[in-house]
Amino acid sequence: MKIVRSSKEIYGLSGQWKKTGQTISLVPTMGCLHEGHLSLIHYARNESDKVIVSLFVNPMQFGRNEDFDSYPSQFERDCELIEAGGADVLFCPPVEDMYSEAFQTSINVYKLSQGMCGKDRPGHFDGVATVVTKLFNITVPDIAVFGEKDFQQLVIIRQLTEDLSYNIRIIGAPIIREDDGLAMSSRNIYLDSEGRKCALCLYQAIQASKKMLRTHGDVPVETILENTKKIVARAGGKLEYVVIVNELTLIPDKIINNNSVLALAVKVGGSVRLIDNSKLIS
Ligand code: PAJ
Repeated sequence: MKIVRSSKEIYGLSGQWKKTGQTISLVPTMGCLHEGHLSLIHYARNESDKVIVSLFVNPMQFGRNEDFDSYPSQFERDCELIEAGGADVLFCPPVEDMYSEAFQTSINVYKLSQGMCGKDRPGHFDGVATVVTKLFNITVPDIAVFGEKDFQQLVIIRQLTEDLSYNIRIIGAPIIREDDGLAMSSRNIYLDSEGRKCALCLYQAIQASKKMLRTHGDVPVETILENTKKIVARAGGKLEYVVIVNELTLIPDKIINNNSVLALAVKVGGSVRLIDNSKLIS
């Protein structure tokens, strides 16, 4: 596996592959990989001739009081995992390569970025949209793979791909979970044993909601939301939001239907912010 640190170089490499008719998939990550990330690389491997994995902890998507400086990093291990996953290139640019001192542009997918995580993390999705746009321009992929774990992010990226006329197929890959249901996340390593127990409340709330719907058929949105609040409070988590929204528009559903997604964010153990989501009827 080749390690490339310069955007000019990866752009050139991508151009060479294209000239020979090879298709390219991009898997953007911020490193500290787990099986969730590896599943994306696996999808990419099956869908294209060449796979680029990017590893870039993007300062633009972190708020001032967030964990940019302490974001977990395991570079050597990540390299091994990415290579074993079958990637052709690891693209890991330094911050200066992506953002010059004069950098001043921001991509804002304005409606989809407002609610949910956008409310709790102002500017976050502008940072994500901007870096993903840059990664698309730099690597010129045919396919880009993202996880459904970051549901709002995926919806925003689909929208910007459409809006900015990229000829890129976006693949949304299912959430990979621990055996007990906790969605894998690079931030799970921040959890102590109490926090780890509490963290299960997100999955429990999802499962309880689905069960209610299976058992009772029609259940009012409010009943599911209230029940989720109770489950999170009982576990000792601090609910940041819970919503039931349309999977494409993120507009709140008045009546639960086949396109409804339950999404929630919970602060666990005081400071670890976890998110999870699921379609309610599958
Ligand atoms: P990061 O949190 O490293 O996640 C990289 C990709 O892995 C995202 O598409 C995310 O949805 C996916 N992922 C994370 N946990 C997963 C799980 N348990 N199952 C399946 N997929 C999972 O998301 C980002 O980085 C950044 O915002 C990025 C898109 C790279 C832009 O900086």
